Parts: sequence; C-alpha cells; structure tokens
Amino acid sequence: MKTEALTIRRAHPDDAPAVAAWMADPAVFAQLLQMPHPSVEMWRERLAANKAGSGEVSLVAVREGQPVGLASLHEPRAVWRRRHAMGLGISVAAHVHGQGAGSALMQALLDHADRWANLLRVELTVFADNARAIALYRRFGFQEEGRMRGYAWRDGAYADCLSMARLNPGPSPIMGP
Ligand SMILES: CC(C)(COP(=O)(O)OP(=O)(O)OC[C@H]1O[C@@H](n2cnc3c(N)ncnc32)[C@H](O)[C@@H]1OP(=O)(O)O)[C@@H](O)C(=O)NCCC(=O)NCCS
Repeated sequence: MKTEALTIRRAHPDDAPAVAAWMADPAVFAQLLQMPHPSVEMWRERLAANKAGSGEVSLVAVREGQPVGLASLHEPRAVWRRRHAMGLGISVAAHVHGQGAGSALMQALLDHADRWANLLRVELTVFADNARAIALYRRFGFQEEGRMRGYAWRDGAYADCLSMARLNPGPSPIMGP
C-alpha cells in the first residue's frame, strides 16, 4: 500500500510525541542534524513556531491516524534579498521508509513552494552517503550545487554533505481575465 493510504495536512504541536518518537531512531536522526534523545517539548515548540505570515510551513503525512512523516520549509535567514529561497527538511518514521510517505510530502511541499509561496529556490543539505534521500531529491528535480567536506559531526566522525537546490520549474504567469 503506497500513497493512497496517506493524508497530508499541516503539522500541529500535538504531533510532537510522534515526531519525537521517530526522531529518536538512529536510522532517522543520524541522517539529520538532530541529536539523539529528542524531547517532546522541543518538538512541540518547533511545531508551534511556524507563525502565521512567516512563510514557514510544516506538513505531516498521516497513516491510519498516526503521523509518520514531517517536511518543512524554513527561512535559511531572514534576509529580504533572499526571500525567493527557503530551506527544506524532511524525515519519515523508519518503519514506513520506502512506502511513499517521503514522496507524498515532497510533492505537497513543492506544490506549496511553486504555486503558493512563489519561491524560486528550494535548498537543502544532505549527507553525501544518504543514497535514499539523494535519489528522492533528484527525482523531484534537485541538483547538486556543491560538496561540503567534514560539514557535520556524525556518530564519532566528520561527514561530508551535499548542498542541493531545485529551481521552480514553472514560469510566473500573469493570469488572463
Ligand atoms: C529520505 C526519506 C525522507 C525518504 O522517505 P521515504 O518515505 O522512505 O521515501 P519514498 O518511499 O517516497 O521514496 C524513497 C525512494 O528511494 C528509493 N530508495 C530506497 N532506498 C534507496 C537506496 N539505498 N538508494 C537509492 N534509492 C533508494 C526508493 O526506491 C524510493 O524510490 P521510488 O519511489 O522511485 O521507488 C526517509 O527515508 C527518511 O526519513 N530517512 C531518514 C531521515 C533523512 O534521511 N532525511 C533526509 C535528510 S536530508
């Protein structure tokens, strides 16, 4: 069963226990810039921090009533001349990896970025050996823009990361009457 069993909706602070549970899994947090032993409170605060009007948005994938994945657009820096760019982060609970939740979240978040937020660039950083995530990003039009050596400390060693970005594939048309 793939995406048809999934619902995508805006994340809510009450999703924090589910998010913290999958973020405690080394299969997930090690691939992100998260620390082990995440707290529910920290995730509650983060999910509550997407202020209306900030442009930031977090979506969750829900399966059988349970959140199983989270994807967010965040401001890399609140700089006016970079308001055409936002960063993307994504994680899916390990027990549903490879079942389409990541793809469904990417589709929804990039639709939001292109059709509603009118972004030119969506940017991300990914560990250079995270083949599953890189394959997903390439499938959604992301390209590598650089390799950052020893970018982050991970499980006792420095690890390289790739910088990737996707440009909005559509023009910005003016709708006729
Ligand atoms: C990366 C991640 C978000 C993908 O989510 P997902 O729900 O597993 O993704 P999907 O099932 O939609 O798609 C995964 C794709 O990767 C492919 N894939 C799986 N393992 C792979 C591997 N080792 N190498 C290459 N591709 C792989 C799958 O075949 C699938 O592609 P397909 O739909 O064309 O068959 C998820 O695995 C995750 O949360 N990982 C841990 C955290 C993480 O890495 N986040 C990204 C940090 S930048």
